[in-house]
Amino acid sequence: MRAALRVNPDVDPQTHRHITTGKKETKFGVDLERAGAVFEKYGRDEYVKLIGVHLHLGSEINAVGPYVQAITKTLDFIETLRGGGFAVEVIDIGGGFGADYTFGQAPAAAEYAGAIIPLLRGRNLKLILEPGRTISANAGILLTRVLYVKKGGEKTFIVVDAAMNDLIRPVLYDAFHFIWPAAVEDKFVVENRQESVEVEGVQLADIVGPICESADFLARDRRLPPVRRGDLLAVFSAGAYGFAMSSQYNSRPRVAEVLVEGDQFKIIRRRETYDDLIAHEIE
Ligand SMILES: Cc1ncc(COP(=O)(O)O)c(C=O)c1O
Repeated sequence: MRAALRVNPDVDPQTHRHITTGKKETKFGVDLERAGAVFEKYGRDEYVKLIGVHLHLGSEINAVGPYVQAITKTLDFIETLRGGGFAVEVIDIGGGFGADYTFGQAPAAAEYAGAIIPLLRGRNLKLILEPGRTISANAGILLTRVLYVKKGGEKTFIVVDAAMNDLIRPVLYDAFHFIWPAAVEDKFVVENRQESVEVEGVQLADIVGPICESADFLARDRRLPPVRRGDLLAVFSAGAYGFAMSSQYNSRPRVAEVLVEGDQFKIIRRRETYDDLIAHEIE
């Protein structure tokens, strides 16, 4: 079997701490000081051939600098290993490339490549990438209906029928998801996902779920066109770590998944039922 060792290059990926994985204080990988000893101990095994070095710095890394730093450190490590007689053939630089949650916030693929490829050229290493959210985040939206608009204290709360069990990213990572009504008057048609929409007539509101948790929100202090009970809202960029991180918390059956292609659609996962909630209980 051929295997790679996951190293921890101790580089700050400049992202939320809950999606930071390549710093010394995170639980992932083997720090570079120890990694040499791991190769010494296991790197000549007859059955498990250590032929690669793997790293993954974290997620939503909207800068190329952390990749450059981490790859540079890791290449030095690989050269040391090679000097010690280990035949390292592969470098896997993981994923974490920023997806455009707001339009234009993430570097283009060419920008990452422009900084990374020169470091690897001529090194005789096979490069493996593990992009995740850059592929799927903006391929999915979560549709949710307004249940109620509530004025409370200084705030307006738009209570919707999706909740933290359907999309946990806002509370888990302070994640931003652009949210906009599915149908709006012409003056509220916007071109792009953006943090703050400055169109006359928008109102400031928190968009929250119906679960009894203050952590149950999809967005805070967001400018939205006026909405009413029954309106449909689109929560953008829900295609990565959306459904996959969903749960049945608060006895909420999970949502249906619908694949859309052009003007065709297909239900690819049916909406769960209350029977599904107890299906695994034995007595
Ligand atoms: C080892 C590894 N590679 C790749 C990824 C994908 O990350 P992203 O979706 O941010 O590109 C992850 C995500 O947790 C991961 O743990």
